[in-house]
Amino acid sequence: MKILLGVTGGIAAYKSLELVRLFMKAGHQVQVVMTAGAKEFIQPLSFQALSGNPVRDQLFDENQEAGMGHIELARWADLIVIAPCSAETLAKLRMGRADDLLMTLCLATDRPIMLAPAMNRLMWSNAATQENVALLQQRGFEILTPAEGEQACGEVGAGRMPEPETIFSQAERYLDAQQKNAQAWAELHPSWQGKRLLITAGPTFEDLDPVRFIGNRSSGKMGFAIAEVAHKLGAQVTLIAGPVSLSCSPDISRLDVRSAQQMFEAVQSHYAQQDVFISAAAVADFRPANQSNQKIKKRTDQDLMSLQLVKNPDIVAWVAEQANKPFVVGFAAETENVLDYAQSKLKRKQLDMICANQVGKNLGFESEQNALTLVTRDAVEALMISSKKQQAFELLKFLASLHSF
Ligand code: CTP
Repeated sequence: MKILLGVTGGIAAYKSLELVRLFMKAGHQVQVVMTAGAKEFIQPLSFQALSGNPVRDQLFDENQEAGMGHIELARWADLIVIAPCSAETLAKLRMGRADDLLMTLCLATDRPIMLAPAMNRLMWSNAATQENVALLQQRGFEILTPAEGEQACGEVGAGRMPEPETIFSQAERYLDAQQKNAQAWAELHPSWQGKRLLITAGPTFEDLDPVRFIGNRSSGKMGFAIAEVAHKLGAQVTLIAGPVSLSCSPDISRLDVRSAQQMFEAVQSHYAQQDVFISAAAVADFRPANQSNQKIKKRTDQDLMSLQLVKNPDIVAWVAEQANKPFVVGFAAETENVLDYAQSKLKRKQLDMICANQVGKNLGFESEQNALTLVTRDAVEALMISSKKQQAFELLKFLASLHSF
């Protein structure tokens, strides 16, 4: 395998020599990229001698670029490992900076990136660093937990770079998983290539007045994960999103809506010519009967107040009734009797499939993890708990396995 090892400024930089040795011994090819900070701690020549390759450290250097351009280098690697990864590097990765060779490579690659943070314990526990770590993890970076112990500065705590043997074995395991993953994706790709998928995601907000609304706790993450995975599998994806704070690939055709009525209209104008419709949105079943143009004032003599609500159109049921309907998949978020409720929803709404979803207990709404049960008229498949991206992949795999799709 090809490993691109990024070395950033930190006293642990010398330990990365051992990491290069371990990778080489296991038969991997290693290219080392050093930042200016790293060179304050260790000579490039040491890495060059161990890896057998010249160390890259310049973004704009004709001689270095003549060998392998930086974009080529970004695609050369099967895995990028940054060890030690300084607090500054975490912050720059989070921002998407491209102010040196290593940062540019990380921005220009689609390969997995593993980080081995190393810094003073207070820098590690600082809210800014922790926020950077959480966000990078969300974006798919694999971040190792720093070791605890005595630090170079004399303080004791968490922040030391994990030992080279630990980084090496984690990298091997990660590479293995990535390879299996890549194989599974390659196998599923032909089934989704060119398929047209319409998906709704997120909550709907039903306005009461200019400042208040009725909403729900759906984050939209499950629907967005399905949209992203389907897009990566080659599908043409149209995503109709309720009010969420999520971004998606620019190649996904996205329409933002607020209310159930707006979502319904968007679906009505896009459902035709789709192969599949996935209704992942948590659509409000009711909306206020009257929407006030002015802020509704409270009455001081009033302890009880009631709202009159009217039913919203059932979007997924409407699509399922159409003569030229696509394959229709609904969601059922339940707190109890998940399978029973899902099966009756499947029948009642005439769906082709329903994804039942136990909400609460750190699952479902607002959570990063999920455990869907996929239900058709003749099959039930319960997925193991995993990230929403993994659930999306399994769902699309299940869909592709159905003859009727
Ligand atoms: N749905 C829809 N339009 C609505 C309401 C729901 O398209 N007005 C879709 C959701 O996107 C989801 C499925 O229907 O795919 C959920 O079914 P629903 O009956 O709304 O679930 P609940 O509201 O949870 O039903 P209940 O209150 O009966 O549990």
